[in-house]
Amino acid sequence: MDAFDREISAAAEILALTRKAAAFCGSGVSAESGISTFRDPGGIWERIDPMEAGTSGGLLSSLAKNPEKMMKIFYDLLEAFEKAECNPGHRALADLEKMGILATVITQNIDNLQNEAGSDNIIEMHGNLFRMVCLSCRRKKKLDRKPFIRDLKLTLNNLKDYSLASLVTLAPRCDTCGSIMRPDVVMFGEAVQDLPRAFEAGGECEVLLVLGTSGVVYPAADLPFEAKRKGADIIVINPRENAFEEITDVYLPMKTGSALPAIVDKIKKK
Ligand code: APR
Ligand code: ZN
Repeated sequence: MDAFDREISAAAEILALTRKAAAFCGSGVSAESGISTFRDPGGIWERIDPMEAGTSGGLLSSLAKNPEKMMKIFYDLLEAFEKAECNPGHRALADLEKMGILATVITQNIDNLQNEAGSDNIIEMHGNLFRMVCLSCRRKKKLDRKPFIRDLKLTLNNLKDYSLASLVTLAPRCDTCGSIMRPDVVMFGEAVQDLPRAFEAGGECEVLLVLGTSGVVYPAADLPFEAKRKGADIIVINPRENAFEEITDVYLPMKTGSALPAIVDKIKKK
């Protein structure tokens, strides 16, 4: 019997009764796919200053100031994003959608893994690293994650230096107007994507799964409170902390990669 069998049963009980659940996801959901979280020990923000590299201007100046350090980190992240595969947590969320229980996945993650796990209704509040947006005409283009990274690494290896002029040659070009494109992700200080749709889904759900997030980045982190204000049950899964204790109905101090499949199993056995 699982150490947290009582909590898993309680979560399964609540979810089995609804057709209007939503999931609010953070980087913890992809940790078991080998992608570092931001604020855990050894996380990305321990390696680079978020207020520096987390803004578009800051990223370019950090690159200019310390290209070797930044390119090493960039390379490590590329490797992790290339190797990453959907984990049992991603797949369990896709199952809950197919079972007609989970209506929407609202994610802060930019790694495209929930899309690849087969979920259809996903709101990406912080964008997607493998979707490009044109800096001129704003047209968007979706790229295939692994081939894109493979090509990018080849081009990187052939760069003569890490000057801005060289790095710009890495940027994909817009098929329509030929301008430079950048990843369609939300950097600090930039507007969150699809905010009204995310809060609408959060406000309408009967149950909200809060998965693998430290709950420190707003406006996204206000979403569980909005769901609670509108009467939803809150189920939190996080092995290390629960930033939403005062509004939590069921807390599972577990990894999503083991808790979510266990919950799905319980529901299927009902
Ligand atoms: N399963 C579930 N939760 C996990 C797991 C796991 N396997 N591993 C770690 N966690 C939890 C950690 O305990 C932590 O609470 O995931 C959380 C990750 O928190 P952060 O690193 O702060 O990531 P996140 O909440 O997604 O950050 C929000 O901040 O940096 C910005 O834009 C970035 O979208 C990001 C936002
Ligand atoms: Zn364009």
